Amino acid sequence: MAYENILVEVHGKVGVVLLNRPKALNALSKGLVRELAQALDAFEADPEIGAIVLTGSDKAFAAGADIKEMSGKSYMDVYMEDFITVDWERAAGCRKPVIAAVAGYALGGGCELAMMCDFILAAENAKFGQPEITIGTIPGAGGTQRLTRFVGKSKAMEMCLTGRMMDAQEAERAGLVSRIVPVDDLKDEAIKTAGKIADLSLPLTMMAKESVNRAYETTLAEGLRFERRVFHSSFATDDQKEGMAAFVEKRQPDFKNS
Ligand code: CAA
Repeated sequence: MAYENILVEVHGKVGVVLLNRPKALNALSKGLVRELAQALDAFEADPEIGAIVLTGSDKAFAAGADIKEMSGKSYMDVYMEDFITVDWERAAGCRKPVIAAVAGYALGGGCELAMMCDFILAAENAKFGQPEITIGTIPGAGGTQRLTRFVGKSKAMEMCLTGRMMDAQEAERAGLVSRIVPVDDLKDEAIKTAGKIADLSLPLTMMAKESVNRAYETTLAEGLRFERRVFHSSFATDDQKEGMAAFVEKRQPDFKNS
C-alpha cells in the first residue's frame, strides 16, 4: 500500500511504522493518523508479524495533533466527528505487542500516542510533554489519564498545567519510559527488542499484554483473578508444552503460535 505520511518496513517478524511528515515534525494530521491505523491493521492481520515498532525521526516522534488542521474547528465539528477517537485509539487497541521508539519531541498527541503503545524506548534526546494548555486547550487523546497513571498525579498535573517538558532521564526515573538508548541506536534497539518478543509464542505474548493492561482497568483482586485464569489457559496451548519441554530437554523452544 502506498502511504503519504508514514513509511512501513518489515524486519523479519517485526513490522515498523515510521511517522514521516518531517516538515511538520510529524504532526498528527487526519491523513497521517488514518494511514497509521491502516498500517497497524495490516500488521495485525499478517500472521508473519509478531511485534510492531512505532517510531518517528531523530528530531520528533510527533509534535502533537496538527494544530493548523484543527485550529478552525468548531465545537460542533469536533463533537460530531468525535475528534481524537476514530483512528487515534488504533494503537491502544492493537492486540500484538507495540513498542514506541521515541527520539526528539513527543508532545501533546505525540506523547499520548507513545503512551498508547505497550512500552516506550527513549533516545537520549527525547522530550515528553502535554503543552496543550499553552495553546488554549487540554490533552484530548488520553494525556490527563494515561500520563497520570504512568508518572503519578504531581508530575502529570505539573506537565498538564504548565506544559513543561520532561527529558529522557526524568521520564525514565518517573517510569514513563522503560529505558534510554543513544539516538543512533534507537531504531535498531527497538527492532531487536521487538524481534525478541516476536520470536516467542504470539498467543502467549498477547495473553501477557492483555493481563498487564488489565492492571490499569480493574482492582487488584479482579486483576489477579484475570491473570490466574489466563495463566491456566496458557496450559491449553501447544506452545506451553513446547516451551517447558525445551527447558527440561535443555534446547531452544520452537514455538508454533498454537
Ligand atoms: N501541528 C502543526 N504543525 C506543527 C506542529 C503541530 N503540532 N508542531 C510543529 N509544527 C510545524 C511548525 O508549524 C513548523 O512549520 P513551518 O515551518 O511551516 O512554520 C514546523 O513544524 C517546525 O516547527 P518549529 O519551527 O516550531 O520547530 P522548533 O524546533 O522551533 O520547535 C516545537 C519545535 C517546540 C515542537 C514546536 O514546533 C511546538 O511547540 N510545536 C507544537 C507542540 C504542541 O503544542 N503540541 C500539542 C498539539 S495539540 C494536541 O496534540 C491535542 C491532543 O491532545 C491530541
